[in-house]
Amino acid sequence: MPSRTIRVAAGVVIAITALSYSAGDFDPRLPVALSAGFAAGTGCLAFAVGRSLTRALRRGEAKVGRMCGELNRVGRRVGSLEKKGEARHAECLRSLTRTDQLVEDGFERVGGQHRSLEREIGRSYTQFEAFADLRSLITPRAPLPPLRGWAASPDVLRMMTGWILRTRPKTIVECGSGSSSVWLGYVAERTGAKVVALEHEPRYAEASRDLVRAHGLSDVVEIRDAPLLPWLEGMETYLWYDREALVGVEDVGLVFVDGPPGATGPAARYPALPLLLPRCSEQVAFFLDDAARADDKVVSDRWVLRFPEVTRTTHPAEKGLDVFVRGGM
Ligand SMILES: C[S@@+](CC[C@H](N)C(=O)[O-])C[C@H]1O[C@@H](n2cnc3c(N)ncnc32)[C@H](O)[C@@H]1O
Repeated sequence: MPSRTIRVAAGVVIAITALSYSAGDFDPRLPVALSAGFAAGTGCLAFAVGRSLTRALRRGEAKVGRMCGELNRVGRRVGSLEKKGEARHAECLRSLTRTDQLVEDGFERVGGQHRSLEREIGRSYTQFEAFADLRSLITPRAPLPPLRGWAASPDVLRMMTGWILRTRPKTIVECGSGSSSVWLGYVAERTGAKVVALEHEPRYAEASRDLVRAHGLSDVVEIRDAPLLPWLEGMETYLWYDREALVGVEDVGLVFVDGPPGATGPAARYPALPLLLPRCSEQVAFFLDDAARADDKVVSDRWVLRFPEVTRTTHPAEKGLDVFVRGGM
């Protein structure tokens, strides 16, 4: 806006011109002077207006500049927030994917555990059924020793019990003494058979003898100490029970092959068939426990190859069971 001085000056010029005309003492040079003054005033006014506009324009430009700067800052901030947001988003996605994977793995693990639990319940039920069957056949005279784990499982004992009750063998040989010595002892007592159990560990031989005594089965079950000694067949050497422990053992109708333990050597149970078969009656069954183990599969296959007179059947017992029969039944 023009300054106040210029506005006042223009007003004064106009007022003097008007007064001169109205007073009548009009000097003809006055209009020229006044016009010149007016023109000068108008010029000044225009200059002042121009300068004021220029200043306003500059102020406007400065303001626009400041706003642009502010906008740039806001833009940069938005940009950096956007980048942070993208990074955060990517991190969230990664974390979601990881969580997803963990949840899936968890489901798979729980599913696997559930399936194995179901299998274990099924296995336990089968063993319980066999145990209930066995218990219905005997009346124990002392607390019964445990089955499963290191000892034979009820399913194998039930099958052997069935064989004993059907074929009524005179002699039963057990390779590896323990709980089974007592259970087989009760069945043998019913049929009038004798059990000879070979044991390579003196402390377990003593423990088994104690058990047999506690159950009043000493007349039925004999636990024989039989250290493991080398036995040679072809190029193979095996560690098996001292053959002295077999003295007097005849008419064997059932052999429970549950020792020596696998850790004593490869195919540790192989010698049972070649060394005991000559002491068996025409009808005999060899029950090879733990037949699901790789080492006992080797034993089982070797028997099939070397002894065509025995027939193998495989049974889905808890630890795997192969039965080798000579003489039918
Ligand atoms: C596979 S276990 C089976 C023993 C036996 N036939 C049974 O079912 O109870 C083989 C070996 O276990 C050992 N053993 C015997 N009594 C044991 C006991 N109370 N605890 C741990 N091992 C025993 C003996 O050395 C035996 O030869």
